Amino acid sequence: METKKFTADQIDQAADLIQQGELIAFPTETVYGLGANALDETAVKQVYAVKGRPSDNPLIVHVSDFEMVKQYVNDFPEHTKSLVEAFWPGPLTLIFNVLPTTFSTSVTGGLNTVAFRMPNNQKTLELIKKAGVPLVGPSANTSGKPSPTTAQHVYHDLQGEIAGILDDGPTQIGVESTVLDLTAKDGIPVILRPGAVTKEQLEHVVGKVMIDQHLISENEAPKAPGMKYKHYAPDVPVWIIDGDQEVFKQAIEWAKSKQQRIGLFADDQITSTFSADVAAVFSFGEESVEQGTKLLFAGLRSLDEQDIDVIFAQAFPESGLGIAYMNRLKKAANQKILKIDSIFE
Ligand code: TXA
Ligand code: MG
Repeated sequence: METKKFTADQIDQAADLIQQGELIAFPTETVYGLGANALDETAVKQVYAVKGRPSDNPLIVHVSDFEMVKQYVNDFPEHTKSLVEAFWPGPLTLIFNVLPTTFSTSVTGGLNTVAFRMPNNQKTLELIKKAGVPLVGPSANTSGKPSPTTAQHVYHDLQGEIAGILDDGPTQIGVESTVLDLTAKDGIPVILRPGAVTKEQLEHVVGKVMIDQHLISENEAPKAPGMKYKHYAPDVPVWIIDGDQEVFKQAIEWAKSKQQRIGLFADDQITSTFSADVAAVFSFGEESVEQGTKLLFAGLRSLDEQDIDVIFAQAFPESGLGIAYMNRLKKAANQKILKIDSIFE
């Protein structure tokens, strides 16, 4: 099948294809999603097939407004209204108990709950409105690869497999939405996946918020089933470098002594200092966690395509957006971190 690129004035055509059960990748503020009619089980199954995604991993249902969610949920937890008002449209996914027999088990993974999100992208909101149905939308990458933050990334992974891509340029945030479970019996919301809406921002609106144990301990069973799979990983090994220029220097010398060709993902200052010592660099610009997060997946993808043996990627402190950045980077690195103490031990 030919994968067609749709522009803003062709949203009607893309919406028609969704209604016909075809798959269309769509832009959001976080990453590109792989869209299909959430009420069409055959189309949803095709999403899993195209991504190569384990089918016990439930999908997020994307809506164009909160009214759409009311068709599937009749009992909203107390914080729903304030969360929707504060963060929708935006990078916050909310999990509710759904009415039975609304979505197929392909969407729910067999759970009684469904994750809903209203993305902050005008073209995609228009696509959902025109299609007239909610869309499932896992990240539009081959399962296990870094999530796509440009239409080119989607094309690279899925060309020939899907009907089209709605192109809206690079995404702004760069990592997937915060997933918040509102179904706990004690009523306290639980973060299942960290994202750009931080715990502090949520607590400002609803009071106490918990972080699911799997974010802290690797040994607990994850509640967001997607968290258990190795994600976001390039083909070459990734090491996180947690420290100042001296730590980068030691790490680079160590890799060079082993004849390893290094790809460096870091800010302008670090990449310019070491550009002569490594095989490839990808700078995310100024030293800011927003910039690092925005370009993390693009950087990993770009370095992975070059002739290198290892990627060294810059750490950020684990607070605010840094929690989401480090969560994705640790998965890509399979938890491998070089710190000053581990080098000088
Ligand atoms: O930013 C995003 O959320 C992107 C864009 C495209 O919207 N979408 C995305 O979807 O990341 P996906 O399917 O790759 O991630 C869904 C996550 C998985 O970790 C999944 O296990 C979890 O949400 N999830 C979905 N439904 C759930 C449910 N009912 N209970 C617990 N976790 C759920
Ligand atoms: Mg994904």
